[in-house]
Amino acid sequence: MYKVWVLVLLTLQMQFALADSNPRLIQMNCMSCHNQPDEVIPDLKSLSPQQMLAALLDFKYERRPSLIMGRIVKGFSEQELADTTRLFYP
Ligand code: HEC
Repeated sequence: MYKVWVLVLLTLQMQFALADSNPRLIQMNCMSCHNQPDEVIPDLKSLSPQQMLAALLDFKYERRPSLIMGRIVKGFSEQELADTTRLFYP
């Protein structure tokens, strides 16, 4: 019985860990595309932090047309996008 409770507690804890927003994980997702040496996906290095966050919010609220980004950023809150943007400028 004791073992069952330990398992239940561990599982609950894992769910909290997953539900926690983690800007580092979000950024890894961004870099899977934005780290490619091609001409298709824009390079983020030339953007200021203000420009990056503004672009993300424009994609989110469909003020700027996009093929990919609108779908991605709709899944994140404004706070998560701000936190993730900050990570790009250590
Ligand atoms: C599946 C590939 C992919 C992923 C993942 C991705 N992007 Fe993009 N990103 C693109 C593409 C393609 C564009 C060009 C706009 C469009 O069509 O969506 C773009 C455009 C942008 C722009 C505008 C660049 C400019 O010069 O104006 C920003 C800022 C940006 N992405 C940031 C991010 C951030 C931050 C993340 C992580 C939350 C992310 N992207 C995840 C593919 C991706």
